[in-house]
Amino acid sequence: MSNSPSHSPGDLSAAQRTLPGGADGADGAAGKAAFVRAMFARIVPRYDLVNRLMTIGMDRRWRRETAAIARPSGAFALDIATGTGDLAFELTRQGARGVIGADFCAGMLTAAIGKAARTDAAGKITFVAGDTTRLPFHDDTFDCIVNGFMLRNVTDLPAAFGELARVLKPGGRLACLDLTPPRCPLCGLFGFYIGRIVPLLGGAVSGHYFAYRWLGQSLRPHPDADTMAAIMRAAGLAEVGYRLIGFGTVAIHYAVKPVASERSGRGERVGRDGSTESDGHSAA
Ligand SMILES: C[S@@+](CC[C@H](N)C(=O)[O-])C[C@H]1O[C@@H](n2cnc3c(N)ncnc32)[C@H](O)[C@@H]1O
Repeated sequence: MSNSPSHSPGDLSAAQRTLPGGADGADGAAGKAAFVRAMFARIVPRYDLVNRLMTIGMDRRWRRETAAIARPSGAFALDIATGTGDLAFELTRQGARGVIGADFCAGMLTAAIGKAARTDAAGKITFVAGDTTRLPFHDDTFDCIVNGFMLRNVTDLPAAFGELARVLKPGGRLACLDLTPPRCPLCGLFGFYIGRIVPLLGGAVSGHYFAYRWLGQSLRPHPDADTMAAIMRAAGLAEVGYRLIGFGTVAIHYAVKPVASERSGRGERVGRDGSTESDGHSAA
């Protein structure tokens, strides 16, 4: 692996520096998934450190809050897009009886397994390969599901939420933590931080400037918090809402899978622009 200076492309190939479906290209869902997987594989070694630095340590509190919303005590839980496993570990700290951490990037899973071996959570967590748009689990498997910083990386959000709803037990809770397009007046400041400072910081620490440039680029086509809530509701989820944290730059979206008698009248698709319906929400 190269250790390039922060402004160089690191070891990403020219094709991998071209963003699928984003500002620089339009390769569709498969291209974006391949791009995302390759990018995360490269930043594994310094992933946790850069997270701490760029959020000035707030990411830990955000994961704690996300896990708590999912109510993991005594639950069999899924952390999808687990990365190096921090949310999965948090679920066990908050009392989950068993946790599956799934991700489609083998390098991230290897790092998560290494971390688990150094904790007393090892016996409670199993890390497996899995794509959030085609989950390798039976219907109605999990009491609760969480994900952290996954949504921006997924092209087909309706498919992802459809899968999450499918594998969640009726009455089970979902909590999703991710950046969200901020509302003004913070837009300019946040745009500068995420678009300029984070790539420099991430590039300097990890050697992969372009991987951290993706963070800001992934937010540009990303649905705002209300639209995300509408997509979740259209996937058949109920009690959908969100909390804004991190000065409004981060959202925790949450929902419950309705029991069968509550499910009628749901299931229409909503585009990334939320074009078919609007949604009620709570913001805190
Ligand atoms: C920014 S990292 C977040 C990791 C971890 N959840 C955290 O809180 O730090 C995003 C992770 O999502 C994974 N990912 C992205 N798209 C995915 C998909 N469709 N299915 C499974 N994992 C995915 C990536 O491989 C990566 O590990």
